Amino acid sequence: MTRLIFLGAPGAGKGTQAEILAGHLGIPHISTGEILRGAIAQQTPLGVKAKSYVDNGDLVPDELILDLIKDRLSQDDAQKGWILDGFPRNVPQAEFLSTLLTELDQNCTAVINLEVPDSTLMQRLLGRGRKDDNEETIANRLEVYRQKTAPLIDFYQNAGLLKTVNGDRTLEEISTDLQTIVKS
Ligand code: AP5
Repeated sequence: MTRLIFLGAPGAGKGTQAEILAGHLGIPHISTGEILRGAIAQQTPLGVKAKSYVDNGDLVPDELILDLIKDRLSQDDAQKGWILDGFPRNVPQAEFLSTLLTELDQNCTAVINLEVPDSTLMQRLLGRGRKDDNEETIANRLEVYRQKTAPLIDFYQNAGLLKTVNGDRTLEEISTDLQTIVKS
């Protein structure tokens, strides 16, 4: 059973690699960013509340995300494994997830930390051009990552779950490494 968390700065390649690996393994790729963008596009109550945070590159309040993750990990398809991309994003979310996994009798197999230099991140994101991929919002997303998400590297290192992968290589090289990690 594979249950992975993908950590990494904006543009590190979490979504790209999580999609490929989840496809290989036949398990769901659960991206909180995608769920929020879908909710914003459909103007659901969640989307209306989340929009200004996502547009500015700030984290949406934890209470908007926690129930959503609880519901998603309780669904049938998540019982065969999962890859979480974009969650947890801060220490309180990581603590919530630990408690939730105990309640659901699930455990996290590994946390993949994709390491990429800032200059490459900026280049990739400006090249992609999503609505939140403008220079000002990217700068804020990187700052939010440093302040709120990067502490999870130590959190999961201390939990003995962290695997750091050089994300500044070709898609194929990274993907091969990730498959090796999963096999081991
Ligand atoms: P989210 O969607 O999670 O955005 P992010 O973390 O900023 O990550 P990105 O999607 O930009 O990057 P990625 O690492 O997935 O890279 P990707 O594979 O796309 O979150 C968006 C917003 O939602 C947040 O700002 C926040 O407001 C909110 N949010 C989400 N989760 C939340 C939570 N848990 N709590 C609170 N708020 C939350 O790749 C980027 C580009 O690089 C692509 O064009 C890709 O083709 C290219 N690329 C990837 N890998 C390579 C490679 N090896 N070589 C060359 N190009 C590559």
